[in-house]
This record gives sequence, structure tokens and C-alpha cells, in this order.
Amino acid sequence: MCGIVGYVGNKSVADILVDGLEQLEYRGYDSSGVAVMNKEEITVFKAIGKLNNLRTELSKHVGEFEKATMGIGHIRWATHGAPTVLNAHPHTCNCGNLVLVHNGIIENYKELREMLTKEGCVFRSQTDTEVVAHLVARMYAKTKDLAEAVRQASKQIEGAYALCVMHNNHKNTLVLTKRNAPLLVGIGEGEFFAASDVPAIIKHTKKAMYLNDNQVVVLTPDKMTLTDSEGNILPQKIEILPWEPVALSKMGYKHYMLKEIHEQPDVIRNILVGKLHAPDENIILNEVKLTKETLKNLNRIQIIACGTSLHAAMVGKYIIENFCGIAVDVEASSEYIYRRTVTDEHTLVIGVSQSGETADTLTAIKQSKAKGSHILIITNRPDSAMAREADSLVPVNAGIEVSVAATKSYTAQLMAFYLLALYMAEVKESVSKEELKNLKAEMMILPQKIEQVLSTTEEIQKSARKYSSTKDFIYVARGINFPTALEGALKLKEISYINATGYPAGELKHGPIAMLDETMPVLSILMNGCVYEKLLSNSEEAKARNARMIALTNSKDEKLDDLFENIIRVPDVDELYSPLLAIIPLQLLAYYIAEFLGKDVDQPRNLAKSVTVE
Ligand code: M6R
Repeated sequence: MCGIVGYVGNKSVADILVDGLEQLEYRGYDSSGVAVMNKEEITVFKAIGKLNNLRTELSKHVGEFEKATMGIGHIRWATHGAPTVLNAHPHTCNCGNLVLVHNGIIENYKELREMLTKEGCVFRSQTDTEVVAHLVARMYAKTKDLAEAVRQASKQIEGAYALCVMHNNHKNTLVLTKRNAPLLVGIGEGEFFAASDVPAIIKHTKKAMYLNDNQVVVLTPDKMTLTDSEGNILPQKIEILPWEPVALSKMGYKHYMLKEIHEQPDVIRNILVGKLHAPDENIILNEVKLTKETLKNLNRIQIIACGTSLHAAMVGKYIIENFCGIAVDVEASSEYIYRRTVTDEHTLVIGVSQSGETADTLTAIKQSKAKGSHILIITNRPDSAMAREADSLVPVNAGIEVSVAATKSYTAQLMAFYLLALYMAEVKESVSKEELKNLKAEMMILPQKIEQVLSTTEEIQKSARKYSSTKDFIYVARGINFPTALEGALKLKEISYINATGYPAGELKHGPIAMLDETMPVLSILMNGCVYEKLLSNSEEAKARNARMIALTNSKDEKLDDLFENIIRVPDVDELYSPLLAIIPLQLLAYYIAEFLGKDVDQPRNLAKSVTVE
């Protein structure tokens, strides 16, 4: 969840590090720090809070590092120990000669700390990371070889880590290694960059090498040496990153979240290009390897995901069961991994993750892979650890999503499920050709319909003002839009901190209805389809308890005007596609409420974009 950057070359390092950290700020933002190699020795600067505080700290010491051309940096999302200066990275060994930054969790840090304390190490922080600094330094004292010290220390560490290490005795050398956490090297002219994610380096170079687990890289300004855990030299797989620096700009929008919401029509268009050419043509998913035989042998499908991706998975269940007639279970990854799951070679396991890095989902995928299941990954990052575990892959092609609140990646995941479900229906021949053609025809005009929804932004902005002083918010829906209610509530709570909850409307009278009174907004997601009338009755029940009723609807039903104090309209659409349209106003509503309340929309408190700890 933290971010790492490193640089060795011939340019002034501090700006490179801080700019890189800024691009990774979405990964965590409670403290930050850099270590730079000055002529004499390494100097460390740290600050708590947002990155600007580190900038201010650095501005007081410019003379101390302006000539430095090597360094490492870190932006933290606290796991072990509060966000304090002492707990911020980089961490050092006893004598301060060795300095490192770390992303991940050292699971056996308590045992290591005990052992190292007995050997005389003095700990200054409460972090798991500091043990690694002492451990590598201890190995270095024996070997006098920094890469070898890193290799030997890694063998004693359990857990997940990406490490970037420097030492006073090696004035132009960075050593990197990783296990179960992402790390890549950017390759420039007479310079190398290290980063836990592409945004930190894309401004400087598109040439890069991803590290595999347990590999160790030594970087000097003119040389990169890659070895395995035993020190054997390995060939280097260098690739050109398919990224443009412009993806990291707000393009005139006040926040990334708003820009990303408005990108959704184009995202859907891009997804369709190459996958669906015409309603009477087959869906093309080149990286899905599900044959008719595999599908015939399946007993069930399990979809595992977290947060917003879990909500996309819930819609996925609905449409796969509907089109393919295969039983689908959906489960939060964190619940899946600590029980005996009934998963085997007759189970298709689908992992859904924007980042492809989420620790719980990655562990769940690895567990089910070990049991022989076919693994299908739906991800926005085909370069991620999760994608590397996949037997089949559906890339969601949403482009980089910077705002912590997922928006365009959610609609892109829904599209991935629509395409996958129709693809499987084609292979299984479980839906008639005529119906498939109609569904595909409607799918192709979804981007225009989303544009229509976005053209009502001003109306939604007005509603947002109206409800911005509420302390609580309830979203209700039934059927395929129940996940929309959950996702709408998640969007609101994570960026505005208003207590928002999504319920299946039929459940209201089994408890939650007790909370309703004239202060409580209840938003009904009333889409035309099989549950419309039922949900209308549930809305009547809520109205009878004086709740402030809001409808999000594609119905022209005049009854709604009496029942609801506020109506948000979206274009008519097949019920199965309605989650894709219904979520857009809810994203906007959450955005404008949070913006009106003056919240930090793109970087809400306590959160991080990639959750790489279990
Ligand atoms: O990268 P993932 O999709 O695996 O992330 C899972 C959740 O952490 C994520 O969806 C989170 O709930 C959203 N950022 C909330 O908007």
C-alpha cells in the first residue's frame, strides 16, 4: 500500500524522488521520507502527513543534498506503528550506514526483532520494516557484499516485501529485491529508476523491467545486474511500458475522481473496440481459454474480490447465472482465504481486482490455483501479480485510475462481466442467437447512454447540496441493482464520511426500517424490470415512515412524482445493463456531496488505492 521510488544516475535526485512519490501518493499518504547519498554520507529527511510536509522539510535543507544523484524515497500507509516521523521510512541500521525503504508486511518481524535485540540492535521505531534494516546490516557485516547481504536477509524474512537498499560504503549502488509485492526498474540513459508502480517513473522513461519474486537487482548509473536468490546472473526481460504520461493529468477537472467519472463513455468504447465489432459477430476475448469442454465440466463458479470489485462481482454473478445457467458464488477475498473452501478442478475461480495487487484476492487466487481450479482474472493491470497467476485474462482497459475511489474501473469491470457472460453463453450455446444479437446491439450503444447521464450533472449537483448536511444515507434496490446500492453507499461513505448503507429493499422491514424518520434520506434504485413493482411497494413503506425519498429511475411512471421528493432520471435500458447506468449518478452524487463538504476527494482519510496487506 506504500509507495517506493529510487534513483541512481547523474541528475539531482531529490526532485526525482519527491515527484515520483507524488505520483504514488494514491497508494498511501500518512507520512513520507527520502534518503539521499551526499558526498560524505547518506542523509535522511522525513515528515508526517501529506507529501507537501516533506517538501517543506526538504526546502529547509536544500544545500545539504542539491548535488546528490542517488537516493530512495517512500510514502507510507501505516500498518505497524502510528504515522510518526520515527515510523516513517527510510529506516536505518544501528550505525546508520545502511538505509532502506519497504513496501509490504514482514510477518515474522516479532521473532526477528527479539533475535536482533538480543544481538544488540537498538530499535527506534515500531515498524516491521526496521528489522529488515538491522538484518541486512548484520549480513553485510559478514559478507561486505550488499547484494549478498540482501539475498541472505531475504531468506530469513516471511511475508511480502519490495525493498530498495543503499549503504554508505557503496556511493553509487542501489540494491532491490521483492516477494509478493510489485517492484520495477525504469531504464534511462546513464541512470536507473526504481518504483513500486509505473506512475512514479513514466515521466522519465518507458523502458522498464519488472522484478520477479526473490530476484535481486544491483543498479549503478551505467549498469544493471539481475540475479536469482543464489546470486546466479539472470537474463533481463526489458519491456516498453504501454503508458502515456498524460494519463496522470487532471485534464482541467478539479479532481481525478471527476475526470475519471467523465471518462467512462470512452472507457466503455475502448473496451468494445477489438472485442465486439457488430451485433451479429462473436465476442473476441483472446486471452480467455474456456473451451466448450471446460465449461461443460464446471460445477460452479466462484468470484472473489474486495470493495468495489466485490460489487462488480455481485453483478457478475447475476448475469453469468442468467446467461449461462452455471451456479455462481461471490465472496469477499478476506473471508475466502481462512476457511476450508469447496474448490477443485471443476470450479472456475474468477478474481476481480482493479490493481491486480490486492493481497487478500491474490492469496485467494493462489489457494484456488493450488487446488486445480481454472483461474480467470479481470483486472485493470495486465502487468500485475494477479494477472501473472491467470489461466485466462479479461483486461478491463480503463486506463490508470488515480482517485482512491474507484469509478471508471467499476464500470469497466461490469463491461468485462457482460462480455465474459455473453462469450460463455456463445460457447455454451445457452442463449439463442437472436437474443445474443439484441443484447450485443444494446451493449454497443451504452457509451451514448452514459453520456446522456453525464449531461445531467448539474441536476445531480443540486441534489448533492440538498443532502450534504445529512448524517446518514440509505440506498435500497433489489435484484441486479442491489450491488449498485452497495456501491453507491460505499462511494458516499469513503469520500464524504457520511454513514451510508445499501440494503436489499425487501430486507428493510426486517430491521433497518426502524431507523427511518423525517431526517433519513432513502434512495431507491428503481429500474424498469422484474422487481420494479416490488421495489415501489418497499419505497411506499419507507415513505410511510416519513423518510426523505429519492428515486433513481429510468421509469416514466407518474406515480413516482407523489412518492419521491427528488427524482434522478437515467435513460431507458435493458434491466441487465441497468447497473452500468445507475451507478453514474451515484458516483456524481457522492462526489458533489464530498466536494461541497470540502473533503479531500481523491485521497480520503485512512485509505489507500492498492491494499497490499491482508
Ligand atoms: O484493486 P482492487 O480492485 O482489488 O481493490 C479492492 C478495493 O480495495 C477497492 O475496490 C476499493 O474498495 C475502492 N477503491 C473503493 O472505491
